[in-house]
Amino acid sequence: MMQERVLTGDRVTGKLHLGHYAGSLKNRVALQEQYESFVFLADVQALTTHFDRPEVIRDHARDIVLDYLAAGLKPEKTTIYVQSLIPEIAELTMYFSMFVTVNMLRHNPTVKAESKNSSLDELYYGFLGYPVSQAADIAFCKATLVPVGEDQLPHLELARKIVRRFNELYRPVLVEPKALVSETPRLIGTDGSAKMSKSLGNTITLDASAEEIVFKIRKAKTDPARIRKHDPGHPEICPIYAYHQAFISAEAPEIREGCERGTISCTACKERITAALEQLISPMRERRAYYTERQQLVNDIVMDGTQRTRSLARETMLEVREAMSLNLFG
Ligand code: TRP
Repeated sequence: MMQERVLTGDRVTGKLHLGHYAGSLKNRVALQEQYESFVFLADVQALTTHFDRPEVIRDHARDIVLDYLAAGLKPEKTTIYVQSLIPEIAELTMYFSMFVTVNMLRHNPTVKAESKNSSLDELYYGFLGYPVSQAADIAFCKATLVPVGEDQLPHLELARKIVRRFNELYRPVLVEPKALVSETPRLIGTDGSAKMSKSLGNTITLDASAEEIVFKIRKAKTDPARIRKHDPGHPEICPIYAYHQAFISAEAPEIREGCERGTISCTACKERITAALEQLISPMRERRAYYTERQQLVNDIVMDGTQRTRSLARETMLEVREAMSLNLFG
């Protein structure tokens, strides 16, 4: 069996939160024990929405590396690198863009959703092409396994298509990646909206203090039908229950029954998830403190990882250029 190579990235637009953890980061932490692993700061792709606010990217790059290390990515097992420092990714994106049609991109659900309300005047070339650069992210390092949340599946499907097309057109030098979809469905926000997202202000970040966890859970929405404890509840619409499923799944069936029968109160439910989240985040807090005190070590981890990745990128691009007959004039 082929040894898998795992890869994922995060757009550098803010700190990571529980949604990222449940949807992908947790998987990465487990997979690094088994497979060769790469994780990168998608700073170039952050520009698709933040080209006019690059300081946001600068201000969050270190936060995200600390999130990685705090969550349990180990520098000796996972190579951490910066996308913009691997120019070969941009080069591969350019080559791919020659045989990807605008229609393939327009039908991508993320692009569709984002461009629904805006005209072509406001649909940026880089944003439209995001999935192409994501395909290059995955292909340049020949990743075989990409742990993602469900919302990323269309991007992965397109990446597979692009790789297949490249291999058909030129020579089979690239590897078709597989998506590894997290078992946790997309995490809903503390306000009950469909997605935990920084722009909605409904997140719990991975650097949350104990007080912040207590506060955010206390303020979180629950089933509005439950005014008194004995009112029967609807766990499927309750954010707190979604967190039980995501973080203490073994206890979820019993909590579901208690909620539906009105034998467990919302307050008790909240106390249980607060304790569970504190248990999850407190070791992260310790690791974060360790690395926060060692800034140079963090720089070295990222720059070593970037250097290793760059040599890999150079190797792949030699093959790519040769396959495309771009090795001109010797
Ligand atoms: N699009 C991903 C997200 O928004 C981030 C990302 C960029 C990515 N390139 C990638 C994930 C390559 C996996 C592999 O979460």
